[in-house]
Amino acid sequence: MRHSGLRQLSFAVVLTLGCAPGPAAFAASPAPAQGQNGMVVSAQHLASQVGVDILKSGGNAVDAAVAVGYALAVVHPAAGNLGGGGFMTIRLKDGTTTFLDFRERAPLASTGTMYLDADGNPVPGASTDGYLAVGVPGSVAGMEAARERYGTRAREELIAPAIRLASEGFVLEPGDIASFAEGNDMLAQDEAAAKIFLKDGKPLELGATLVQADLAKSLTAIAQGGADAFYKGGIADLIVRASEANGGILTREDFERYEVRELEPVKYSYRGYDIVSSPPPSSGGLVICEILNVLEGYPISYLGYGSAETVRLMVEAMRHAFVDRNTALGDPDFVDNPVGKLTSKAYAEEIRARIDPYRAGVSEALKPAGFGESKETTHYSIIDRDGNAVAVTYTLNGSFGIGKVAEGTGILLNNEMDDFTIKPGVPNLYGLVQGEANAIEPGKSPLSSMSPTIVSKDGEPFMVIGSPGGSRIITIMLSAIMNVVDHGMDLQEAIDAPRIHHQWLPDRVLMEPYALSPDTLRLLAGMGYRVGTDPDWTIWGEAAGILVGGRNLRQIAAGDGARYYGAIDSRATAGAAIGY
Ligand code: GLY
Repeated sequence: MRHSGLRQLSFAVVLTLGCAPGPAAFAASPAPAQGQNGMVVSAQHLASQVGVDILKSGGNAVDAAVAVGYALAVVHPAAGNLGGGGFMTIRLKDGTTTFLDFRERAPLASTGTMYLDADGNPVPGASTDGYLAVGVPGSVAGMEAARERYGTRAREELIAPAIRLASEGFVLEPGDIASFAEGNDMLAQDEAAAKIFLKDGKPLELGATLVQADLAKSLTAIAQGGADAFYKGGIADLIVRASEANGGILTREDFERYEVRELEPVKYSYRGYDIVSSPPPSSGGLVICEILNVLEGYPISYLGYGSAETVRLMVEAMRHAFVDRNTALGDPDFVDNPVGKLTSKAYAEEIRARIDPYRAGVSEALKPAGFGESKETTHYSIIDRDGNAVAVTYTLNGSFGIGKVAEGTGILLNNEMDDFTIKPGVPNLYGLVQGEANAIEPGKSPLSSMSPTIVSKDGEPFMVIGSPGGSRIITIMLSAIMNVVDHGMDLQEAIDAPRIHHQWLPDRVLMEPYALSPDTLRLLAGMGYRVGTDPDWTIWGEAAGILVGGRNLRQIAAGDGARYYGAIDSRATAGAAIGY
C-alpha cells in the first residue's frame, strides 16, 4: 500500500507540472475582494472607502481616483501626498487610453553638480535629507488636471472627505502604527512635523486620533481655489519660505511654472493581452515591456513558477532591460528615448540570442562604453460600473520624503531629486547606477520606475495594477502579470507570491525569504548566479490590483465569477480592496 501511495503521489506531481492550477489548487492567500459595480484598492482602508463612496454616489473612476489621492495625503502620510508627484494611467470605457505625468520637476536653480563636493564626490545625504532634495511637487496639479479633463464631479465634493479626515482626525490602527514606525525618528527632527505626527516627542500610540489642522487648511484652500491655491497662492509661499530658511532652492517661479504633461502611454502586447503603462519620465512601462517581450519567446507556463529555468530567464531579461533603463532613459523633454527599440519584438529576439543557455550573464559585460528605491511610493487601482479604469502611483520618494513639513501647511515634502543621476556610476537610494540621460537639469523630471498599468483583452479591461517599491516596482509588476497570465494564479496569490529582483547592477539576484527552494538555489548557483535573500519586507512593495471577470484565468474562462476582483498586497499594513 505504501508503495502504491508513493506512486500516486509522484504521478500527481507530474500532472501538475506546467499546468495552470485547478479550482482546488489555490495557494495560501486569502480570496480577493469581490464587487459587481466597482472596486477600489489602496494602501489605506479609509482612502479605499472614500473612493467607493464616490463611485456609489455616481462618480466615475477618475472622480474616485482624485478623491482617493487627496484622502491618502491625509491617512497615509508616508507616501500619500500633496508635496510629491506621480503618474495616472487612464483607460476609459470606450477603450481610449491616456497618461497624466505629474512627477516633480527639478527647481530652476538646480545644477548637474549640486550634490557633489569640491572634489566631485557626492555629499552624503544632500539629495535625500534636506530641502535641497525637494523637487517641485506635482500631485495637486495632477489631481486637478485629472478631475477637469476626465472627472464629472466638483472639486469641493472630491476634496471634502480628505478635509474631514484631516480636521476631525482618524483613529490609528496597527497598520498605521507600522507605517509610522519607519518615519518617527526622522519626523522627530523637524519641529513642524513633530508637532503633527508625534505627541510630546513620542510616537503616536495605537488608538490615538491623528488630527492634521494645517493640512485641513491647505486642503480647504485647494477646494476653494483649485491648483492655483497651491502653485500661485499662500501654500507655495509657505513652502518657498521654509525652503529658503533651510538651505533649499525652491522659488515661487518654480511653482508658477509647474505644468502637468498629458502623454501617450507605452502600449504593447504580451501573449495576446494589451498593456498600457507609463512612458518616460518613467522607465517602468518600457522596462516591463522589454522584459515581457524577451520572456514571450519562452514557454514560461510550461517551465513553471519558481523553477530554476524560469527564474534565470527572468533574471537575464531583467539584466538586459535594466541596462537600457539606467543608461538610455530620461525625461522626454530633454532626452531622445529609444522607445521604438525598447518596445520592439525584434530587439527582444536579439536579447534572447545573447542569453547563454547554460551560464549566468555578466552585468559588467553589458556596460556601454563611457558610462557610471523604497517603499514610499503608493499605488491605487480603481474601476467603475462602466468599466472606466484608473491606475495611480504617486510618491514622496523615501518614506515620508525628507520628513519635513513646511510650517503652516501640514504638507510633507518629497526627496525626489535623489532619483536623478547624482553622479554617473554612483548608486542612488535604490542602488540604481544611472547615466547622463538622467542627469539633473532645471525643469527636468528625474527618471522614475513607477508603472501604473492597465491590461485589456479583446477590447475589454482585464487587469489594473501597480505598486510602490522603487526600482523593484518594475519586477513586482512583472511578477504580478506573469503570475496571472503564465502561472494561472488568482489575483491575490499573484500579488502575494514571494518575489525575485535583479537590476543589472549590483550583479546579484535578490529574493524574498522562501521565494526559491534550496534545490532551485543550488541549480542557479551551479550556473553562476549569486542569489541573496533580502528580508526587509517593507521594500518589496505593496501592489494593489483589480482583475475583471474572475479571480483567475480559469474562472474568467468559465464565466462564473463576479465582475470585479480586488487584491491589496498582504505586505500592506493598512490597505484594503473594497468592492460593491
Ligand atoms: N521614487 C520612486 C520612483 O519614482 O521610481
